[in-house]
Amino acid sequence: MNESQGMTGLILNEPLLWDKGNKGRSGYSLPRPDIENSFIDETLLGSGPDFPDLSEMDVVRHYTRLSQWNFGVDTGMYPLGSCTMKYNPKVHEILAGLNGFATAHPLLPARMSQGALHLMSELQSFLAEITGLNAVSLQPAAGAQGELAGMLMLHAYYRKQGRPRSKILVPDTAHGTNPASAALCGFRPIPVSSDDQGVLSPGRVSDLMDTETAGIMLTNPNTLGLFEENIRTVAEIVHARGGQVYCDGANLNAVMGMVHMGDLGVDVMHLNLHKTFATPHGGGGPGSGPVCVKSHLAPFLPIPRIHKTEEGYVLSDDFPDTIGKLQAFWGNFSVMIKAYCYILSMGPHFLKKASQLAVLNANYLKESLKGVFHLPYDRPCMHECVFSDKLQKAHGITTLDIAKRLMDYGFHPPTIYFPLVVNGAIMIEPTETESLETINEFIRTCRSVAREAAENPDRLKLAPVNCKVKRLDEAAAARRPCLAD
Ligand SMILES: Cc1ncc(COP(=O)(O)O)c(C=O)c1O
Repeated sequence: MNESQGMTGLILNEPLLWDKGNKGRSGYSLPRPDIENSFIDETLLGSGPDFPDLSEMDVVRHYTRLSQWNFGVDTGMYPLGSCTMKYNPKVHEILAGLNGFATAHPLLPARMSQGALHLMSELQSFLAEITGLNAVSLQPAAGAQGELAGMLMLHAYYRKQGRPRSKILVPDTAHGTNPASAALCGFRPIPVSSDDQGVLSPGRVSDLMDTETAGIMLTNPNTLGLFEENIRTVAEIVHARGGQVYCDGANLNAVMGMVHMGDLGVDVMHLNLHKTFATPHGGGGPGSGPVCVKSHLAPFLPIPRIHKTEEGYVLSDDFPDTIGKLQAFWGNFSVMIKAYCYILSMGPHFLKKASQLAVLNANYLKESLKGVFHLPYDRPCMHECVFSDKLQKAHGITTLDIAKRLMDYGFHPPTIYFPLVVNGAIMIEPTETESLETINEFIRTCRSVAREAAENPDRLKLAPVNCKVKRLDEAAAARRPCLAD
């Protein structure tokens, strides 16, 4: 056995449990049975899978070691733009795990679920207040499902008026899921290019907005991390032609307590509770993408809807214009609990402060790395900033090389090659929870990587060299995944 196959301490290689097993080893100890077990018919036992014989310690160490190969917000800074990978206080996980919540069964009648319904109803009111909209459904289980709910509602709204519309405007700075959600619902997405400042031009919207168009589906702040500063004028143009304004509000982390989207002319928007409100995005875990609307769209919200009556909270399906149910039961309740606790524990003052800090951190980072990496839109940003590899290209170094080298320094890479409007994009979202020391460390590291790109580009081409898994052929890894080791 060589050094890298060592069995103790910080290991570099971890064998499969099958390779670690040793015949006769056992992970339990039970008293000998005091009855004969001859009553079990041996022919029914079968041979079973060939599980390895392991001790409890073998198993605990195996899984603990594997868990240490992972990277998460509990490990270090995770500047993945567009994902808001901020640190979420553990107390919210504990609260979501309380017995009364965790064991609540969705098939219990409403009269036995009053606590859960109370929480959901209050959360809806909080989200309505934060967005400046009038009614909310917590049903959608992801941001993209919230988008789909919004599009289905617009579809139902026009059908109800007896004049269906077939197209929808989608800016090139909208999130990638937006055109997909619109198309899934039967709308033809019409791309709108942003102007040289990275935001929507009212003139371009006006040129494209006709009476066949259901409205616009914009992301604000957009995927360049910029506030859509012409949103009010854009909304006026869209409304004047009978259209509706959909806002992808997944990036609410930048604007909580700062702006009411309803006041800017937004008719319908979704939020990502699993980015802004105490559940991490990514990792494929449960999400929640509530959809919030102005009153005229409320009849189309998904069912069931929660109502407060004199007898308490009830769930009602009695909405003839509803788009119907989006999924089983009521949505991802544990994510709602965390969002509810987060909002209550922060209060309006600290929600606003969180957004201010998220924006401050991103602008500090942007100003500090300006010139180190190319900054295509040199103007104040919101919660994230977008660079490109234009300066490093001269040395044959690409965004991918930079991202891989950051891993050698212990940082999760930023989002790369997104948004598509920037060639070789490097999209960094520091979030409000990173300390100045950590952000400074990240800035110093980016500077070192940029220096290496100029002085020793081969080092970046080979990166990562310090990680368990080295540079992968990513296309092959996706097409022929090797899941065995
Ligand atoms: C702006 C924006 N819209 C929509 C989504 C989609 O959300 P989900 O991944 O929950 O479907 C995301 C995801 O990060 C996003 O950043």
